[in-house]
Amino acid sequence: MYKLSLNKDNSYKYIGLSTEIPIGKSKSISIKDAKSKKNIHIAIFNISGRFYAISDSCAHQGGPLSKGFLNSDIVTCPWHGWKYSVKNGKSAHEGGDSVNSYKVKVVKGKLYVNPFPSNIDKRVSKPHDDLQ
Ligand code: FES
Repeated sequence: MYKLSLNKDNSYKYIGLSTEIPIGKSKSISIKDAKSKKNIHIAIFNISGRFYAISDSCAHQGGPLSKGFLNSDIVTCPWHGWKYSVKNGKSAHEGGDSVNSYKVKVVKGKLYVNPFPSNIDKRVSKPHDDLQ
């Protein structure tokens, strides 16, 4: 897992080489928010050579989505089976909870992620007590 520092600006952060994530695989990274001092966990996915990033923490109980099961662009949480699109973090079920998604770009084989969400999570169900 990479540990990066989050700057105040809205710039992309280098997270590794694109070859480190084969097609159909994923990887977890961690970025420290300089303001809140909390770590932001992001899952990066390679879908047919295109890269996508969503929160690595499932909206249900925080399961690691980077360790989930991929079917096309849908990842299934390994803990209890909630499903999300890796393209935008939205639930695979209409009206379901969603997670943050992030922009990714590849420049000369290097992967960069923008740690500021491009789509903000949407909670439909009440968070579990240990996640509040
Ligand atoms: S923690 Fe992901 S489905 Fe329960």
